Amino acid sequence: MNTNSNNWLEWLKETRYSEIDSQNMQNTNNWLDSTRNIVLNNSKIKKNDVVIDIGTGTGFLGIKILEKMSGAGKVIFADNDEECLNECKKNINNKKINTGYEIIKTDCTDIKISSNSIDKAVMRSVLVHIDNKEKALQEIYRILKPEGIFTAFEPVLYYNTRLSELIKDKENKNLEKLKRIESVVWNDDKESLFNYNYESLSNLLKNAGFSHYNIQKIKTETQCILNEKYIDSWMELKPAPYKKSLKERFLYLIDNKEYDEIINDIKSITHEKPFITNSYFALISAKK
Ligand SMILES: C[S@@+](CC[C@H](N)C(=O)[O-])C[C@H]1O[C@@H](n2cnc3c(N)ncnc32)[C@H](O)[C@@H]1O
Repeated sequence: MNTNSNNWLEWLKETRYSEIDSQNMQNTNNWLDSTRNIVLNNSKIKKNDVVIDIGTGTGFLGIKILEKMSGAGKVIFADNDEECLNECKKNINNKKINTGYEIIKTDCTDIKISSNSIDKAVMRSVLVHIDNKEKALQEIYRILKPEGIFTAFEPVLYYNTRLSELIKDKENKNLEKLKRIESVVWNDDKESLFNYNYESLSNLLKNAGFSHYNIQKIKTETQCILNEKYIDSWMELKPAPYKKSLKERFLYLIDNKEYDEIINDIKSITHEKPFITNSYFALISAKK
């Protein structure tokens, strides 16, 4: 989900609550609920567990867990963004819950929690934003008790439909150039959004020390109509706060004239065509 918000709180609010039409909003909510259920159903949380929701944002996973545990155990809401944590606190208060939780401001690559102290760690859509995934997973391993369980649901953008796929069946002079640009963008090791795939995630879990781990590959298909507005949004909206749009990334590699030529060409070829885009996700289950 893309917007042009500049901070996490605005971004989370915009992507969740400001859809223009109610059908879109319903679809977004259904999707979010289903991803939360996947994490909660796989995390094997029991009463009296100490659970940490890492990168909790406004408390999307953690508050549901807190409600389910109804005072037996503890939920730690962790994030490095103060504004999100303030909103999270408000959301907890709105549920009239006063005990059984702690809120901590901490970076997930240096978690301010003692080793071997957590029964279950959960995460949703956070690792994708972390440059140093190796360190984050080492930290999660460190804070878990022996046999503690880590469950996460993360997008794996590396495999998602790319622009070149919209025109791959056509004779097109820009197709090879476009694929070359995409290859540079998608293979940027320093970019958190693209610097991992299913295989590297597996290796990172193994190297962090997890004794058992499994990555379930999840693919979703979305129907769309390839009109000008859709393609402009695809290119111009930022995938996360503080991140560059695809257009900005392309313009590091080609000039404006070349960019316009490629995009206008795609728009004319795909004009109002129905299309299915693919998005990929990883359901991570790992045991210390
Ligand atoms: C896409 S939001 C997901 C929020 C929440 N997990 C949910 O599912 O609604 C990403 C969250 O990760 C947090 N985050 C990003 N980088 C972080 C870091 N290095 N350490 C801790 N939290 C981080 C952001 O502040 C934001 O709240």
